Amino acid sequence: MENAEQQKKVIFSAIQPSGSITLGNYLGALRNWVSLQDEYRCIFALADLHTITVRQEPAKFRKNTLEAYALLLACGIDPEKSPFFIQSHVSAHAELGWILDCYTQFGELSRMTQFKDKSAKHADNVNAGLFTYPSLMAADILLYQADLVPVGVDQKQHLELARNIADRFNGLYSPTFTVPDPYIPKTGAKIMSLQDPTKKMSKSDENINGCVYVLDTPDDIMRKFRRAVTDSQACVRYEEGKDGVNNLMGIYSCVTGKDFASIEAEFQGKGYGDFKTAVGEAVIQHLQPVQERFRQYIADKAYLEKCYREGAEKAEAIARRTLSKVMRKIGFVPRG
Ligand code: TYM
Repeated sequence: MENAEQQKKVIFSAIQPSGSITLGNYLGALRNWVSLQDEYRCIFALADLHTITVRQEPAKFRKNTLEAYALLLACGIDPEKSPFFIQSHVSAHAELGWILDCYTQFGELSRMTQFKDKSAKHADNVNAGLFTYPSLMAADILLYQADLVPVGVDQKQHLELARNIADRFNGLYSPTFTVPDPYIPKTGAKIMSLQDPTKKMSKSDENINGCVYVLDTPDDIMRKFRRAVTDSQACVRYEEGKDGVNNLMGIYSCVTGKDFASIEAEFQGKGYGDFKTAVGEAVIQHLQPVQERFRQYIADKAYLEKCYREGAEKAEAIARRTLSKVMRKIGFVPRG
């Protein structure tokens, strides 16, 4: 039994607790985290060190972090199977992050599209952490020798950099890190804004109707879907150029398990009004049990604390082993 467990491939992933978790986070990443827990050895984190690259109000940051923890449990993360911790509780992340900064080139970080986007958006606070964020993300993954990293499409470039950093370090010294592969779902890998379906759905969408949150009320969810931008063709078909409809079909497919052909057949001859209402209803129904479980978990702070403390202990044991190996290879004198 113990041996079979050791032979499973390792999965690591993380999410930032920066505000409410979106339907994009859920369909692009979290849904997969939950479904992979039996087949793989999974380790998950709330990437709170990453969150301070954008200024946070302390009380709100604390509240968002606890809520995100409870929500992920509600989504189905099982802390008995998958150590689930808060990144700042395991200091090896910051330590390996610094080390990997020294093995990452300025030019590589300058090419990261998320850095370019975020520095344009927060022009008054283009801090060094925003720039070196991808090497901290590489540290998160490499500490656990992860084989696979389930993420949405927007994280693919960061994953490629993590692979390059791992390869570089392994080449300079000797094999030290597992080189991780991204695990990107076929549908839901990039959920778009309901108001501008050429942009990804994001927590920071200026238009409140563009982004659905996992904890939105049923009325809010339905309002957002009813107002979703589509096109003037009144035809539910997945094809290039129909970004709004394609996005709604993707969401509907994710939450119902139906493929595109059967969705097209279901709405043949029907207008967008019916289609949008059906998507809204399916999402509400899908999220309802998650919301219910969230209310139970968030009310039990002692249980949450037990889970994240134990999660950090388990994660730390693995992370320390990798960090010691890295430091020994570089030539740091051990404290003894
Ligand atoms: P974050 O917190 O922005 O997003 C968490 C996960 O949600 C996915 N995602 C989406 N998927 C589909 N459609 C969308 N509209 C959408 N928006 C977000 C993201 O791809 C991600 O998988 N840097 C990471 C957090 C992180 C991390 C890591 C991830 C830190 N360390 C190590 C993996 C491994 C981030 O900011 O994700």
